[in-house]
Amino acid sequence: MELGQGSIANNLSGRFEVYRATKSALNQLMRSDAARHQGDQRALLLMAPGWVKTDLGGPGATFEIGDSIPLLVDTVDRQRGAAGLQYLDRHGQTVPW
Ligand SMILES: NC(=O)c1ccc[n+]([C@@H]2O[C@H](COP(=O)([O-])OP(=O)(O)OC[C@H]3O[C@@H](n4cnc5c(N)ncnc54)[C@H](OP(=O)(O)O)[C@@H]3O)[C@@H](O)[C@H]2O)c1
Repeated sequence: MELGQGSIANNLSGRFEVYRATKSALNQLMRSDAARHQGDQRALLLMAPGWVKTDLGGPGATFEIGDSIPLLVDTVDRQRGAAGLQYLDRHGQTVPW
């Protein structure tokens, strides 16, 4: 399972504090929005793609874009019609908040 930089529960190593805080804040906003709109039938997804070699991820990242994005897309596709908010990694595994 991907750790997810927005996951407070999975933050066992520290580092990247400001980045982590922005991702946790985004998660909190989504939780609030989902709570305000209980009964909404839309699928809401927060996703942890893994550490990917992009401009942001840098050349030292673990995964190529092609290793992560197709799995992310498949995971999004599988959540079609699943009402409510989930925090998932690229394999569709739940990431602890
Ligand atoms: N890479 C990873 O390992 C990783 C892991 C987990 C989550 N994420 C998240 O995934 C998202 C995309 O990251 P990435 O790795 O794909 O980064 P990236 O390759 O650096 O791409 C960032 C994108 O954001 C756009 N952007 C930056 N500042 C902007 C602004 N002020 N207004 C509008 N657009 C702006 C850039 O546009 P231009 O190309 O026009 O500059 C670019 O398209 C981010 O939220 C990142 O935190 C990334």
